[in-house]
Amino acid sequence: MSCRLHRPTILPISALPTMRNALLCLATTLILSACGGSDDNEDNTVSSPSLPSNPPSSNTPDETEADTDWLPAGGSATITADISQPFLQIMPNLPSSALGGVSPGRELFITEWTPANQGRVLFDGVGPLFNANACTQCHSAEGRKPIYANDGELSDAILFRLGDKQGLAHAYYGEQMQHQSIDASIATEGKMRYIATVEDDKNSKSIRFNFTPTDPNQPLGDTAISGRISPQLVGMGLLNLIPDASIIAAADANDDNKDGISGRVHWVNEGVHERIGRFGWKAINSSLHTQNANAMSQDMGLTTSIFMDPNCTANQPICWTAANGGTPEVSDSSLDAVTDFMTALAVPERRVSNLSTFNQGANLFTQVGCAGCHTPKQKTGDSDRFPLLSQQTIYPYTDLLLHDMGAGLDDGVKEKNAESFEWRTPPLWGIGIVAQDSDARFLHDGRASSLTEAILWHGGEAEGAKTRFEQLSVEQKNILLSFLNGI
Ligand code: HEC
Ligand code: HEC
Repeated sequence: MSCRLHRPTILPISALPTMRNALLCLATTLILSACGGSDDNEDNTVSSPSLPSNPPSSNTPDETEADTDWLPAGGSATITADISQPFLQIMPNLPSSALGGVSPGRELFITEWTPANQGRVLFDGVGPLFNANACTQCHSAEGRKPIYANDGELSDAILFRLGDKQGLAHAYYGEQMQHQSIDASIATEGKMRYIATVEDDKNSKSIRFNFTPTDPNQPLGDTAISGRISPQLVGMGLLNLIPDASIIAAADANDDNKDGISGRVHWVNEGVHERIGRFGWKAINSSLHTQNANAMSQDMGLTTSIFMDPNCTANQPICWTAANGGTPEVSDSSLDAVTDFMTALAVPERRVSNLSTFNQGANLFTQVGCAGCHTPKQKTGDSDRFPLLSQQTIYPYTDLLLHDMGAGLDDGVKEKNAESFEWRTPPLWGIGIVAQDSDARFLHDGRASSLTEAILWHGGEAEGAKTRFEQLSVEQKNILLSFLNGI
């Protein structure tokens, strides 16, 4: 399919530095920290770690051994991490034919969309209800945007999914809360604030949210609120290309291998097809195409040929009366261009300051059982559109499966066929770069303020791995964390 954008200028690659500046301006609130360095406690003199008893077998035993050659993390899509904005970068060596979609896609991704009828035909139609008016308001080139301020205020980079354990959305608000609207004639849905409480047993912050509806006659009732922070976008095209067969082969729904881990495929229904969900914290989107259309619809109020209706529920009649910016507001060629940009996203290289310590960390990662879900190595299938992404050995640290993560992480919201306690294993590549920002938050709602806290919240199928992590010596924990900081 052709991905040309119907507009007068197509951005040449030579214009990318300008776009980088634009991104920088958009990201002024972000605290920048230098990349490439490592602030972990590395120690070359450590002896071989001895482990607590009963380390689990992995679902993919032959793929979790530490590599001594350490191929590039994202195969041909790998870029240097030693730059101030290591995310949202385009993979190297793309032929100019592919850039025809990728460059305009990047522009559509960073532009601030305006409401309908304001003279920017290609970039209008945001709202009537929305969370943010640009993809980059939430997805940052540095890692993750700050979300929590000290006084209970939240930034736009966290959104809220609404629902219950049966998968029912709220009759008035729908499946996502939008706190912005295009003008005063359309009421916003409400405002979220947070309360941080300290859990004694974990010594880790638990985040609770308070919702104040704009219309006091529309209470949330029994509907649960699930905070979702915006993930860093890394190697999306590569994840899209992991063959279904590899994901299915790693699933072990009934835990037949008795390692306590029973990942299952999130089959999602798309029209007549059953597809494997891959994207989002609960893997509700099967492809970058549907993921992007979903983001446009729910996060920005932009219609596409996939979601033709505005994001108003049947109980929000005034919302339906707002002017629209085209039918649909985002043309297929624009949606394809954004998908091309997402597909071409690079992977920052691993940052290994001491190979021997790194390999020890990789072994610990496997031995305590992290690799049972965070699968280190995957291989992509074939792409006609981006042949450079074909047959690449990559290190994303995910199985793309759903896991029961226990009561502590149960958000009360079933999405598609993912239960309220189930989450997709998030890829960990680049997580150490994210962690260099002291404001960075982890887990779906950002309750963890460090990698260690994130690990300590693991429960359910990950209870064993969490416990074995806790039993490591301080020295071993540091080695494991320094490995995480380097992948
Ligand atoms: C209001 C904030 C916000 C905006 C605006 C936004 N996103 Fe997202 N994005 C998120 C959040 C939050 C998630 C995870 C959603 C979930 O699982 O509930 C996400 C997930 C994604 C993912 C999947 C990442 C993964 O690891 O699975 C992609 C790709 C993505 N967004 C692309 C886009 C594109 C393209 C746009 C603009 C058209 C966009 N997003 C706009 C917040 C945002
Ligand atoms: C049973 C599968 C499973 C095991 C085992 C597991 N994880 Fe996870 N991990 C997950 C899932 C699922 C999440 C997302 C949970 C959420 O956001 O609520 C996650 C989240 C994380 C995060 C936060 C990622 C982010 O983007 O914020 C880190 C870091 C992490 N895991 C590291 C580890 C380490 C280290 C180990 C071993 C001690 C481990 N995990 C073991 C499934 C697992």
